[in-house]
Amino acid sequence: MLAAFKFAATGPFMLSYRHSFHAGNHADVIKHLVQVAILDYLLQKDKPFCYHDSHAGAGLYSLLGEQAQKTSEYQTGIGKLWQYQAQSPVLQHYIELVKQLNPDGELAFYPGSPKIAALMLRATDSIQASELHPSDYPILASQFVRRRHSRIENMDAWAGFKAMLPPLHKRGLVLIDPPYELKTEYQDVVHGLSLAYSRFPQATYAIWYPVIERAAVEAFISALVGTGIKDMLRIEYCPLPDSSGFGMTGSGMLVVNPPYTLADTMRTALTELSPLLSPQGDFSVHQLVAE
Ligand SMILES: C[S@@+](CC[C@H](N)C(=O)[O-])C[C@H]1O[C@@H](n2cnc3c(N)ncnc32)[C@H](O)[C@@H]1O
Repeated sequence: MLAAFKFAATGPFMLSYRHSFHAGNHADVIKHLVQVAILDYLLQKDKPFCYHDSHAGAGLYSLLGEQAQKTSEYQTGIGKLWQYQAQSPVLQHYIELVKQLNPDGELAFYPGSPKIAALMLRATDSIQASELHPSDYPILASQFVRRRHSRIENMDAWAGFKAMLPPLHKRGLVLIDPPYELKTEYQDVVHGLSLAYSRFPQATYAIWYPVIERAAVEAFISALVGTGIKDMLRIEYCPLPDSSGFGMTGSGMLVVNPPYTLADTMRTALTELSPLLSPQGDFSVHQLVAE
C-alpha cells in the first residue's frame, strides 16, 4: 500500500482519508446540491467562469467497489434518491447528473465535486483542482487530460490557492472540502479562506463542514465570521438530531458571496429532500453575515 504523507505543524502524518468510503452519503448530497445550485446560477451568464476545487478527491467513485460496499454510506444519501422525480429543479438536476453516469439503470458510479463541475461546465469555463493523495490524484488527473482550460495539481490546497488564484476569469466558485481528520484543519480553513478571498474577492466560496460536536461546529462558524468577510449564508442539513450520539449527525455549507437566489433555492430543495433521507431530518438556511 502507498503511504501518503503530509506535513502538519507537528511533523509528518499519514493521509489516511479516502473519499471512496463515503461517496454519495448524506453529506455528499447536501454538498453537491449546493454546488449544482451555485454552478446553475453562474451558467446563466454567457461570460466564462472558473471552478476551483481545493480538496478535489478522485472525481469518480465506484459504489459497487470494495470500499463503498464496506461502509454502504451511499445508502444514507444517493441510494435513497436516485430514482426519485423531484419537484425542486436543483434537486432534479443533481439526480439527473448521477443518472447520466449510470445509464444502465443500476447505481454503480457517483460523481465527485470535480466530475460534477466537468459534467456541467461549458468548454470555455475553466476547472482548477488540487488533490494531495498519491492514489487519488492520478485517478482525478486522468479524467481531465483531454479537457482544455483545466489545471489539476498534486498539490496542497493552500499552496494551490497561492499558485492558481486569482484565475484568468473574473467570476467563479471555490469549493473548500477538507477531510477534517486533524483538529488543525479547522484553523487551516479559516486561514485558507482569508488567503483565497484576498486574492479572488469576487468569487463565491462554498466551505463544507461536518456536524459531529455542536459546540465545536459553532466555534468554527464563529472563527469564519471572525475573518470579517461579508455576505455569508449558512446551510445545514442533519438527518439525525445532535443528541443521537452517532458520530457525524449532519453537515453544512458556509457560502460566501452566495447567488441572491441560493437561500430560496436551497429552502425549497431541502424541504423536499429532508423527509426523503430521514424521518428525523432537519435543516436550516440563514444569512450569517450581511452583504
Ligand atoms: C472530502 S474529500 C474531497 C471530496 C470531493 N471534494 C468531492 O466532493 O467529491 C477530501 C480530499 O482532500 C484531500 N486532502 C487532504 N488534505 C489535503 C490538502 N492539504 N490539500 C489537498 N488535498 C487534501 C484528501 O486526500 C481527500 O481526497
